[in-house]
Amino acid sequence: MAATVSFPVVNMEKLETEERDTAMAVIRDACENWGFFELLNHGISHELMDEVERLTKAHYATFREAKFQEFAARTLAAAGDEGADVSDVDWESTFFVRHLPASNLADLPDVDDHYRQVMKQFASEVQKLSEKVLDLLCENLGLEPGYLKAAFAGSDGGPTFGTKVSAYPPCPRPDLVAGLRAHTDAGGLILLLQDDQVSGLQLLRGGDGGEWVDVPPLRHAIVANVGDQLEVVTNGRYKSAVHRVLARPDGNRMSVASFYNPGADAVIFPAPALVGEEERAEKKATTYPRFVFEDYMNLYARHKFEAKEPRFEAMKSSAIATA
Ligand code: OGA
Ligand code: NI
Repeated sequence: MAATVSFPVVNMEKLETEERDTAMAVIRDACENWGFFELLNHGISHELMDEVERLTKAHYATFREAKFQEFAARTLAAAGDEGADVSDVDWESTFFVRHLPASNLADLPDVDDHYRQVMKQFASEVQKLSEKVLDLLCENLGLEPGYLKAAFAGSDGGPTFGTKVSAYPPCPRPDLVAGLRAHTDAGGLILLLQDDQVSGLQLLRGGDGGEWVDVPPLRHAIVANVGDQLEVVTNGRYKSAVHRVLARPDGNRMSVASFYNPGADAVIFPAPALVGEEERAEKKATTYPRFVFEDYMNLYARHKFEAKEPRFEAMKSSAIATA
């Protein structure tokens, strides 16, 4: 059994009270030692969250389930009858909604006006919350307010922001396939609305040789996690955690993951304030490169399910000149 002990949960209401320091310390510890935390009383209305969940489940049942069942039958047949290797398959049904720099909501097939409106509203709330959380991180890191938002801004002044909508349907052979294979997220900060009944998301705590820990379903919570770009900008103070979704024989897990990522042409590098005197003076091989975010994404597309360290290394050789 995976451990769930003392998973970091932040009651954001406490940020407005005399318990602020305690809440900030929970966020700091979570960023330094987990790469994940859950937010409660984050300001996004519970009615809106419930509506997103309801519509997402209905959309899957109406428009996506039949197609997924075909994929499921094919995959199981290949594994069973032919003994084919299905270890590179994810047992998930997803679609992606782009918000920034340009929305694709109007182009999505099978999405009615109401679902479109609700997703637009939810995305706008999640974007606001992402920027609020980034500022809490700035405070904990001793960076000026707005630093991380500015670090992720592309030449158009904004982030790349999008939402992956997923179903993880029941799987009769969870021993053969994962819901989603282990990976770190490429981008900045990820905020996730996950099913409040069906679990499956796990993070690897303590890196290689660490232990898999459940990200416990918590009604009306938003799960936050650190992506590779936050690791670079914080010069490794905060690390992106490896995570995965287990396939399970029962329950159809829903998740709505929003990725607050740098603009495509944003130049990403460790914040100078977080590079120690010694590290700077020695001018030795630094751990983290300087690169254009789009170049990282091109590499990530081919190496998502591999360790991040070789990605950071590869970006060094393609690195743009230091200003
Ligand atoms: C992802 C991811 C987890 C989930 O899409 O990168 O980790 O629960 N998703 O959907
Ligand atoms: Ni992920």
